[in-house]
Amino acid sequence: MKPLGIGLIGTGYMGKCHALAWNAVKTVFGDVERPRLVHLAEANAELAGARAAEFGFEKATADWRTLIADPDVDVVSVTTPNQFHAEMAIAALEAGKHVWCEKPMAPDYADAERMLAVARRSGKVAVLGYNYIQNPIMRHIKTLIGEGAIGSVNHIRAEMDEDFMADPDVLFYWKSEISAGYGALDDFAVHPLSLLWYLFGHVEAVTTDMVKPYADRPVKGGGRRAVENHDAANVLMRLGGGVSAVLMANRAAWGRKGRIALQIYGSKGSILYDQERMNEFELYQFEGRGSERGFRKILAAPAHQPYDRFIPAPGHGLGFNDLKIIECRELIRAICGEPASIVTFEDGLRIEKSVHAMAQSFHERRWIEIG
Ligand SMILES: NC(=O)c1ccc[n+]([C@@H]2O[C@H](COP(=O)([O-])OP(=O)(O)OC[C@H]3O[C@@H](n4cnc5c(N)ncnc54)[C@H](O)[C@@H]3O)[C@@H](O)[C@H]2O)c1
Repeated sequence: MKPLGIGLIGTGYMGKCHALAWNAVKTVFGDVERPRLVHLAEANAELAGARAAEFGFEKATADWRTLIADPDVDVVSVTTPNQFHAEMAIAALEAGKHVWCEKPMAPDYADAERMLAVARRSGKVAVLGYNYIQNPIMRHIKTLIGEGAIGSVNHIRAEMDEDFMADPDVLFYWKSEISAGYGALDDFAVHPLSLLWYLFGHVEAVTTDMVKPYADRPVKGGGRRAVENHDAANVLMRLGGGVSAVLMANRAAWGRKGRIALQIYGSKGSILYDQERMNEFELYQFEGRGSERGFRKILAAPAHQPYDRFIPAPGHGLGFNDLKIIECRELIRAICGEPASIVTFEDGLRIEKSVHAMAQSFHERRWIEIG
């Protein structure tokens, strides 16, 4: 296979993360061709040029359509804000490129549906950036559950919390506008939902309560503006096989910085995980003498593949950006037609359908079955 030609649109938080992954994937995994970093697009030419030099891209442009028209680009990383995803991903797929698009697909469900339709027609690989499923620890938890290490799972609690909206004096900005989404649901809930999908399959029914911790926020320059969406949400869910789950998401939770926590309870044991301590998990197994029974903390180690591709020493730890390198390797696998651990547009759309059903259930005060 010839080296993949890479196009990168956007160079903020996630753009840099994708650039690091494209730069590192050969060094970490060895068994792929080193990608060719062909073209980078940013909002203006000066920034595009500067970032292309820093990230190692050959060409820079302020017009993302020029990047998509470039015949040397085979894969496009879309890392711009949510409202641009549909237009950019659809244009790239229609131009015959594979797409690696940041989550969520699009604020508007109809746009997300169009993204999937075009991806299907194109026959190209279309992947969403749900990197948390790539943690070697998460892979191992999936294996343990599959092996029956905690028996048959019957109850799950999933949480996602941060505190960037916890201060009542945070100025009103676009994240509090309803046009940006429902708030905690689409900003946050999609990440734990990607983990639940990875471990157990899709959500089948939901009922939701949403919370506005603060009714209004100060506006820059004076005055106050009403908050239009909800910073916190509590969701009851039914998964396949009758498994009951609770999902709580809160972006106004003081002290929480990047909590994506799972508590998984089964007939023979339990598993606890928290993304803030992404290099460990806790396992309780109902076996052995009662006098020594308790949770065991297990540290990430080479046995949890592909940790071994990064570091030969156990307990030294991977970081957030490493998850993107693993996701990048899985994307290349998919492009090569090999089985890959990715969230396709197909599964991504179903995650977003769950979020819209949650909001509907809140407004209609009832359970919603997700078809
Ligand atoms: N997977 C994850 O864990 C994760 C984490 C954070 C954000 N995200 C997602 O990543 C996406 C980007 O978020 P971010 O935090 O990186 O945002 P950001 O604001 O840091 O970066 C966005 C970049 O896109 C650029 N941009 C905007 N319009 C453009 C255009 N027309 N052409 C070219 N470049 C343009 C901006 O200049 C900016 O550099 C969002 O969809 C977000 O939901 C995912």
